Amino acid sequence: MAARGSGVTEGTGGGGVSRRVVLRAGLEGGGLVALGGIGLALSSGSAAAPPSKGTLNPLVVPDLVPPAALTAAPGITTLGDGKQCKALLYDGQLPGPFFEVRDGAPVKIPFTNGLASDTTVHWHGLIVPEHADGQPHHAVAPGAKYDYAFTVNQRAGMSWYHPHPHLATASQVAYGLAGGFIIRDEEEDALTLPSGAYEVPLVIRDANVDKAGNLSYNGKASGFTGNIALVNGTRDAEHEVDRSWYRFRILVGSNSRLFKLTLSTGAAFRLIGNDGGLLPQAVDLAEMELSPGERVDVLVDCTALDAGQTVGLVDGNSGWTLLQLTGTGNTGGTGSATTVPAAGGTLSTSIPSLGPATTRRVFSFDGMTRINGVVYDMDLISFQVQQNTVEEWEFRTNGNAPHPVHVHGTSFQVVSRTGGRRRLFPWEGGWKDTVLLHDRETVTVRLSFNHGHTGRYLLHCHKLEHEDAGMMLNFEVV
Ligand code: C2O
Ligand code: CU
Ligand code: CU
Repeated sequence: MAARGSGVTEGTGGGGVSRRVVLRAGLEGGGLVALGGIGLALSSGSAAAPPSKGTLNPLVVPDLVPPAALTAAPGITTLGDGKQCKALLYDGQLPGPFFEVRDGAPVKIPFTNGLASDTTVHWHGLIVPEHADGQPHHAVAPGAKYDYAFTVNQRAGMSWYHPHPHLATASQVAYGLAGGFIIRDEEEDALTLPSGAYEVPLVIRDANVDKAGNLSYNGKASGFTGNIALVNGTRDAEHEVDRSWYRFRILVGSNSRLFKLTLSTGAAFRLIGNDGGLLPQAVDLAEMELSPGERVDVLVDCTALDAGQTVGLVDGNSGWTLLQLTGTGNTGGTGSATTVPAAGGTLSTSIPSLGPATTRRVFSFDGMTRINGVVYDMDLISFQVQQNTVEEWEFRTNGNAPHPVHVHGTSFQVVSRTGGRRRLFPWEGGWKDTVLLHDRETVTVRLSFNHGHTGRYLLHCHKLEHEDAGMMLNFEVV
């Protein structure tokens, strides 16, 4: 992680007192009202002028680190502009640490809740036992610890982690809690994709800041939308790129905003992967519409970019430039791949077809708070699934979409979309764990809980305000 935290520590107390203790004391003295004591609405005491229009800030690029102890706590960061910004942070970082492991690795993450309210850590996209899934049922109280332990048993890909406490997921995520989790394996190694400085994770989201420059949250039932973009916690982000191909691992970490990603030059992304890892084939495409929780793995050709020339990563929905890539004119160093998979070229031959389903279920995402007419009840198990059988789940909506539909405990394959956009998109191939349902659409997926885990898992809308309001259910794998 870029050295963003250090100045903050000095500025908030020093002595032998940890930043967390100082901040919590400060917050408790500040008369918290809203949102379970998160209360970031204190004046910061920092009155730095806002950056002049047009100033760009260097993109924070998270280091990839082995899994280790993790703490969620209020803290101070900057959004890249040097101004102090209060937020909720994992290990004092925005985004939180990016863990990197190989398939098969045992993972132990001792977690400490330094927040003033309950939280959990959910490993979105990782197929883990119920006790490690960070469900609302396993709330970690303020000051308490919880050991997340599991063995990674899935192919290479980029997952992520975020809070999943009962009724409070949306605010905790909006205030900054999210991090990355990257799995490597031999199939991916063999492709010798761009690596090191040429492989860059990008967590894209929107946010609001208050007058004091702190992250703020004003969720409404239809979803929170912020008025600035953050990429890896950086607003107005710029990243310098050599004459090389780059691998961008993109996560949509917003609460509810959809992004329609394009490059300002009109050039194509070479899409190589999504939620569950590599696609069967590389595909060139100029636009991708993605919803909260979805990931794409893309290669971008910067080999012809002269020094000072720029390319923007643009959201076609808002018109925002999320990230400006600026050429250095240098040739690529270690980790820059000289050849990358061709469009249409084979990436993975390890994606099986699941075969016909033995059970079919229909889920209607109703209004902003219900699935099949029912508001989430922590104690209700809505149905049971036999492990190692193939099921087909149909997702429908009677309005208030988009609903990004997410399943815990396995990955799925998207079979069809009828109504609405009436087609599947290249980023919906391979393995997914989140799929976008627009108004008038019906999306069918096929899945099998064949990872050796039984127990309770969740199906929910990943528009976090819908999730908190009840658009979620429990099911049990038996
Ligand atoms: Cu990323 Cu249950 O969620
Ligand atoms: Cu999840
Ligand atoms: Cu929804």
